[in-house]
Amino acid sequence: MDDRLDLPPRLVIASHNAGKVVEIDDLLGPFAIEVIGATALGLAEPEETGTTFQANALLKAQAAAKASGIPALSDDSGLSVWGLGGAPGIYSARWGGPDKDFYAAMARVEAELGDKPDRSASFFCVLALAWPDGTSRTFEGRIDGHLEFPPRGSHGFGYDPIFVPEGDTRTFGEMEMAEKKAFNHRARAFAKLIGAADFH
Ligand code: IMP
Repeated sequence: MDDRLDLPPRLVIASHNAGKVVEIDDLLGPFAIEVIGATALGLAEPEETGTTFQANALLKAQAAAKASGIPALSDDSGLSVWGLGGAPGIYSARWGGPDKDFYAAMARVEAELGDKPDRSASFFCVLALAWPDGTSRTFEGRIDGHLEFPPRGSHGFGYDPIFVPEGDTRTFGEMEMAEKKAFNHRARAFAKLIGAADFH
């Protein structure tokens, strides 16, 4: 079976998060793919009703591909804290509340962990590519590590200041963006996508 991936010359990024569009544009830069943001096309943001990263990534990419008639790429990501049974997981963004207050979300993680000894955690990223004809592919990236409190570092976003990746002593918040971007969960999912592509 030939499952090589034929990347289109133009892709809609199924996200209204300007930061994500910039990051994906940057990752696709070397591959001569024109990137269009969902906001620029006036696409509606679907409700994330899935129960897995993969389901939510697919739902966003499929909605954007169908509405625009152009192949779409989406990203769904989050932090799974193993002492909390994988929470916040797909609810990572929602734990930040309407104000996207991730210091409050990190305090909630710390409070819910209490004195549980298991501090292990993993970041996940699922990239979904969907075509207007209904076909799709997904690619998952994961990075394992542990949590440390209080939060440290001012780089990055979300839960970066409490996550220490395996093999390091610094939190993602203490790493320069360029360093983190080279090996994090999004980079790993991206490497799988590029690895599957025809021109590779
Ligand atoms: P999404 O936009 O629904 O995929 O939400 C992803 C959420 O997971 C973000 O709002 C962050 O809180 C968290 N998250 C995902 N990736 C990262 C990361 O690289 N660092 C820190 N937090 C992340």
